[in-house]
Amino acid sequence: MPPTDFEFATASRIIFGPGRAAEVASTAGRLGSRALVCTGAEPERHDGLLEDLRVPFALFPVRGEPTVDLARTAVAVARDEGVDLVVAVGGGSVIDLGKAVAMLLGNGGDPLDYLEVIGEGRLIDKPSVPCVALPTTAGTGAEVTPNAVLASPEHGLKASLRSPLMFPRVAIVDPLLTMSCPPSVTASSGMDALTQCLEALVSIRATPMTDALASEGLRRAAAGLRRSYADGSDMAARTDMALCSLLGGLSLANAKLGAVHGLAGVIGGTIEIPHGAACAALLLATIEANVKALRTRQPDGDALARYEQVARLLTGRVDATIEQGAVWIEETVRLLGTAKLASYGLVPDQVDEIVARALVASSTKGNPIELRSEELRGVLTSAT
Ligand SMILES: NC(=O)c1ccc[n+]([C@@H]2O[C@H](COP(=O)([O-])OP(=O)(O)OC[C@H]3O[C@@H](n4cnc5c(N)ncnc54)[C@H](O)[C@@H]3O)[C@@H](O)[C@H]2O)c1
Repeated sequence: MPPTDFEFATASRIIFGPGRAAEVASTAGRLGSRALVCTGAEPERHDGLLEDLRVPFALFPVRGEPTVDLARTAVAVARDEGVDLVVAVGGGSVIDLGKAVAMLLGNGGDPLDYLEVIGEGRLIDKPSVPCVALPTTAGTGAEVTPNAVLASPEHGLKASLRSPLMFPRVAIVDPLLTMSCPPSVTASSGMDALTQCLEALVSIRATPMTDALASEGLRRAAAGLRRSYADGSDMAARTDMALCSLLGGLSLANAKLGAVHGLAGVIGGTIEIPHGAACAALLLATIEANVKALRTRQPDGDALARYEQVARLLTGRVDATIEQGAVWIEETVRLLGTAKLASYGLVPDQVDEIVARALVASSTKGNPIELRSEELRGVLTSAT
């Protein structure tokens, strides 16, 4: 049973619904006097939203996943422009960069002063400047998490800035913003959202609150993932996936994740791969390894019952077995066409190093059972 003694933290305000992105105009006007607006590589996609913004702003387009150097550049621009507010409208990459900038404007210093694992891990003890986050993918839930992932090519790693002071002030989740996602982005970000709900539900840190949120997130993934991939203009499916992503973010921020995310974080620092594509490649093999280890070493814990619950939520069948849930995931990954890790350049020589790093990764600590290095190696091999 999950503990009845827990905490729950999130953004100060969450606004959800089709068309509600327009509220960024008034929201920003209440929170600051000059904004840095972080967007994806095509800021013109958001012209309609930004022309109504009630504060002057400087644009900072983000191409690709954010790095330590990009965060430094963005902070320098923000300081030059004298901004006191960050608006991030984009995928997880853009939102993470926005959260990193907001934290560094509030605390001063360099990303490496605070980064976990590769930096000094210094305590973040001052509030970020207000950050308004509007996700345009249905994937990471970064609009309601307290961390920002930055890649450091020189370390070959991705690492997080993390603090309860880094939750965005306002999260505006508008499914309409995700309608332009091409199928490949719908597939990889959707698999990230599904995996986050699933790992939070079987996490050893799960609580009654995260259970409620993650279960609903899985139900929404079952309803919306295949449909939003098949038809990107399906509004109901896009809404299901936007909710799945939000619920995944709320869950992971308060329950931690598991071995899929432990491995995916390290893999993302080693090769160039969309984060969700790494999750898609790893999910089935991780479930199989976890279930096998649980049946052997912890047959009486409640994790196996949780995997049965996952199977019921995904298949919609009250009598579904863990194996039938695994088949649903296998078929979904095949339908979405996400590739295995080898297609992104992962080679067998990299496996041992990735396993060693994943074993100590923060996400791995939420896994329902401590996997041994040979078990993680098996997961990685079958995902490659
Ligand atoms: N902070 C957290 O809690 C957290 C959690 C999981 C992952 N992450 C990070 O998030 C990043 C991945 O985020 P993501 O999966 O959202 O992908 P992304 O932000 O990297 O975007 C993927 C691609 O989709 C494009 N795109 C985004 N929205 C679009 C739209 N509406 N229409 C058309 N194209 C669009 C982007 O330009 C980009 O090319 C990784 O850096 C990962 O490390 C953060």
